[in-house]
Amino acid sequence: MIPKSTIDNILSASRIEEVVGEFVVLKRRGTNYIGLCPFHNEKTPSFTVSPAKGIYKCFGCGKAGNTVNFLMEYEHYSYPEALRFLAKRYNIEIEEEEQTPEKIQEQNEKESLFLVNQFAQKYFESVLHETEEGKSVGLTYLKERGFNENTIRKFQLGFGLDKWEDMTAHAMENGYKSEYLVKTGLSVQKDDRLTDRFRGRVIFPIHSTSGRIIGFGGRILTSDKHLAKYINSPESEIYNKSKSLYGIFFAKNAIISKDNCFLVEGYTDVISMHQAGIENVVASSGTSLTQDQIKLIQRYTKNITILYDGDPAGIKASMRGIDMVLEQGLNVKIVLFPEGEDPDSFVRKSRIADVESFITKNSVNFILFKTRLLLEETSGDPIKKAALIKEIVNTIALIPDPISKSLYTKQCSEILNINEQTLLNEINKILRKKLTHPEQDYERTDTTSVVSPDLIAPAQVDYDLESNESQEREIIRLLLLYGNDIILFPKENEDKEITDFQVKIGDFIIHDILNDEIRFENELCQKVFNEISASLDQEIISDKDFFFQYPVKEIAAIAIDLCMTPYSLSHNWKKNNIHIDSEPDRLKETVCTSLLTFKAKKIERMIKENGKKLKEAKINEEVTILMQDRQRLNEISSRINRELGRIVKK
Ligand code: CTP
Ligand code: MN
Repeated sequence: MIPKSTIDNILSASRIEEVVGEFVVLKRRGTNYIGLCPFHNEKTPSFTVSPAKGIYKCFGCGKAGNTVNFLMEYEHYSYPEALRFLAKRYNIEIEEEEQTPEKIQEQNEKESLFLVNQFAQKYFESVLHETEEGKSVGLTYLKERGFNENTIRKFQLGFGLDKWEDMTAHAMENGYKSEYLVKTGLSVQKDDRLTDRFRGRVIFPIHSTSGRIIGFGGRILTSDKHLAKYINSPESEIYNKSKSLYGIFFAKNAIISKDNCFLVEGYTDVISMHQAGIENVVASSGTSLTQDQIKLIQRYTKNITILYDGDPAGIKASMRGIDMVLEQGLNVKIVLFPEGEDPDSFVRKSRIADVESFITKNSVNFILFKTRLLLEETSGDPIKKAALIKEIVNTIALIPDPISKSLYTKQCSEILNINEQTLLNEINKILRKKLTHPEQDYERTDTTSVVSPDLIAPAQVDYDLESNESQEREIIRLLLLYGNDIILFPKENEDKEITDFQVKIGDFIIHDILNDEIRFENELCQKVFNEISASLDQEIISDKDFFFQYPVKEIAAIAIDLCMTPYSLSHNWKKNNIHIDSEPDRLKETVCTSLLTFKAKKIERMIKENGKKLKEAKINEEVTILMQDRQRLNEISSRINRELGRIVKK
């Protein structure tokens, strides 16, 4: 755990334009920097970085946040990982809290396992390329399979000699402890003797998302039915099969840019597709997909395309797994390869352009795919068909998004040739049952960090121009950006001298609004306002930096959004031909004008409201009271407008 004070140090040392600048080419534009948005495709830059505010915002796709959010979004770091990255970048030492001796031990042990694996990978690779047996057996095999030199190097493929203990002996000679050789599974202990696990096999190193070696797969070169085709590293502290996906390190950037992840079965499928230029591909390594693997994919995209070899039995077996994917809100498509072909063999036989067009042409939405497949089997049998409908309905009910849900209902009703309403009724029945018997206890996402890491891509905040929301937002914007700045008002002291009276903008605005007992119509604005009011007696009034890290996503989002919005008053000034250089120069005027405009609008609405009530009023007393109100409101309104006029003309 990183202590709060260190987090503050890291955040204040970090300069957003430097950090973002490492990943995006930025050009200076006034006080800001602009560049091409790394989160969506664009030709003209709308990605803006504000050094003064410490935030970025893309006006094209709406992604916004601070330095930490950028790293989380772009590099897919977790919150602590992003902080560590920044700490390293700015030479800030992190004294970790609660580092028990056991934890340090565990940390060291993991590191040792990684180091042994790294050594082994280098060893296997050099055996493949530099020994006679490696070249004549391993390399020949890989080349015969169609893998070229680049591909073999990129995936760091290797070869384990057909000897009992060559790898183990080398590792020991180089000072690696037998304990770690056994724990990684590279060596197998038999009585007092250590032998190599991977013998006479080509080696496929398995990488973590960040590219470190977590385990290995080894393929035998013969087609001996008595021997397992593949053997793999056993589970260890660094290799958890159900949490990793083969190829994820090489695929992650392509998955993001294509916004889709191809899922295949095996090591060779991944590698062949890469070689063919299709890089957004990972393998579940022969097992059915797990929740953790789905989560891993979900870090990069919401779209999965599963590439199957055309074996109906296999497909049906894995359908259960796919239901789980749907439940997570991902979109699943299926591509069925011709019978007997897997992606690897298909890619090898075809031209690259043909592979791509084959995949595009044959991608079928999973639910429709399942419906058609099962329908074929019912062959007109009404009992079977009823069971099928139940099955499909169960699947559709899993989809969290209501729009997709109704879309699939419609399409399935057409395929199955049954009334859409009937299907809907069935789905609703299941949903109701789920609501009353929520058996499933969803895993909560980890919340190890101190403040919210959950600030990625805040939703765009829309607002209604008819209401006084834009005035409300302007007030909040000023509070967030300038709450702790001082403005001066002339004031007479006891000796009748005029002196400057200093007041913090936050204090000034909040007291002014509280005095008039005005409430914000926008609930989020009111919440931000309340938070700031509560902080008035602190040395630093809560401002943008506080809200950018706010644990409620909507509030953090509105704060970022407001701080990146060009200030609205500038338009008024320009209309009146008044040139202003920058907002801070005229802060006092801006604050006063905004407060008055905010109140003027509020009064305007109250007058309208009053008018409506007057029309409906039936009793005389009521009319009298409303008329009195009306008069008072009109007075306030003209006073405010007089003041406003004075400021604008000044
Ligand atoms: N697998 C395994 N152990 C086995 C068989 C398979 O771990 N005994 C895993 C491997 O990750 C393998 C995947 O399941 O990559 C898919 O198996 P398969 O299709 O049989 O292998 P391919 O990868 O297609 O290998 P090849 O093309 O060389 O036959
Ligand atoms: Mn294969």
